[in-house]
Amino acid sequence: MAERVRLAIVGCGGMGRRHLAGLGELARSAHDAVELVAVCDLDERNAAALADEAGQLLGQRPTVFTGLERMGREAEGLEAASCTIETGAHHRVAAALLDSGLHTLCEKPLALTVRACDHVIAAAQRSGRVLSVAENFRRDPINRLVRALLDDGAIGDRQFIMETAVRGRDTLFITPWRHQKLSGALTLDAGVHSADILQYYFGPATSAYGQTRLYERTRVRRDTGGPGGFYAQWAADLPASVEATGEDAIFGTLTFEHGALGQWVDHYAGHGQPFSHRMVFGTCGSIAAPGDRNGRPVRLTLDDGADIADERILDYAPSYRLDPAAAALFGDERPWTYDLDFPAIDRKLLALEYHELATCVRTGRPPEVDGVVARRDVALVYALFESQEAGRPVTIAEVEAGAVDAYQRPIDAHLGLVPRPVATAR
Ligand SMILES: NC(=O)c1ccc[n+]([C@@H]2O[C@H](COP(=O)([O-])OP(=O)(O)OC[C@H]3O[C@@H](n4cnc5c(N)ncnc54)[C@H](O)[C@@H]3O)[C@@H](O)[C@H]2O)c1
Repeated sequence: MAERVRLAIVGCGGMGRRHLAGLGELARSAHDAVELVAVCDLDERNAAALADEAGQLLGQRPTVFTGLERMGREAEGLEAASCTIETGAHHRVAAALLDSGLHTLCEKPLALTVRACDHVIAAAQRSGRVLSVAENFRRDPINRLVRALLDDGAIGDRQFIMETAVRGRDTLFITPWRHQKLSGALTLDAGVHSADILQYYFGPATSAYGQTRLYERTRVRRDTGGPGGFYAQWAADLPASVEATGEDAIFGTLTFEHGALGQWVDHYAGHGQPFSHRMVFGTCGSIAAPGDRNGRPVRLTLDDGADIADERILDYAPSYRLDPAAAALFGDERPWTYDLDFPAIDRKLLALEYHELATCVRTGRPPEVDGVVARRDVALVYALFESQEAGRPVTIAEVEAGAVDAYQRPIDAHLGLVPRPVATAR
């Protein structure tokens, strides 16, 4: 087996803790490929707490750093880093990691705007290092199965996809920074997962017509543990409420290459009964996908009368086969369902991200979600915002090229990526 890749986790908040759990999962498998040697956070307490947890989980305490420069000088033989800091600093920190010669696994979204994504992609090109983006949802075996059903023609040609989720009321979603336009609105932070799934199932989107809203201007602290309880240690630091500036609902109509259509609603301020569904329609049937990280079965309904939500679905997806690491972690090469709790699912998917990173580093194979794929996901989210600003449908190409950027410009100015507008004297 190739030598393990020596890694640092940069960003020791909630997601840093989840990444550590992923590394623990990988270490317990026959596919261990990564050695955690350093952790880094501006907040030394967060870094030290993660190092302690790593010492217990992995039997080796990584060295604690509070800045990249010292880490670069002192962490011996470091080859790679994960960037698990707030989205607003991804473009600076991921680019700095790449420029310092480290292969980088960057959390989604790749960066806060399309221009900020370009900044990271340019660093990857300059350095020749691997840039992989941590899109975990598509690695869920059930999403792999849906993709295989589509590719194998189970429902004929792709025609229409509906991705809808309405929930959240006025609850503060994990951290205050997720409610601010200038640090990453919820609709980008969580919405980018949907953008990735939509394009993973249907290929690149080409245009979008969207509307966006900020419904809940005050967000109230309620569930303080965050997904899987990973954020519980910061619960006491959460304010009772925050004033939101970032939009909390997006509504869009999409066109994909080859003419298929999509309808996408990501509404994080919905009241009453939470609702979500992901339905895919083709020229001879439909697929009801169960969503992400729940292991529930897929339902296939065909014009010939077949209505299948059990093991027989595998007959319609002959190409479906997990890679060996995924098959080992989920206990089956062709799972059609699984029964695991959220933390177990989460760490398996993160373990797979690290396994892929190590494979790319050692073999030169490109990652599945590289900078270009991840920027397309960010562009699809912003297409809805730019469409709202422009009052017309926009093409993804013009969003990617920065030709329509009225919504993102103030964010880019805040990040220092474009000049700040000069105040005109009266
Ligand atoms: N893939 C997923 O399912 C998923 C889930 C949650 C979060 N995320 C992503 O992970 C990232 C982190 O989110 P989080 O919830 O862990 O945030 P968080 O606020 O809990 O933690 C961020 C940490 O980064 C540290 N930090 C900030 N700037 C830094 C810098 N320049 N150098 C070193 N450390 C720095 C902070 O001190 C903090 O400890 C975000 O981009 C988010 O979108 C992904």
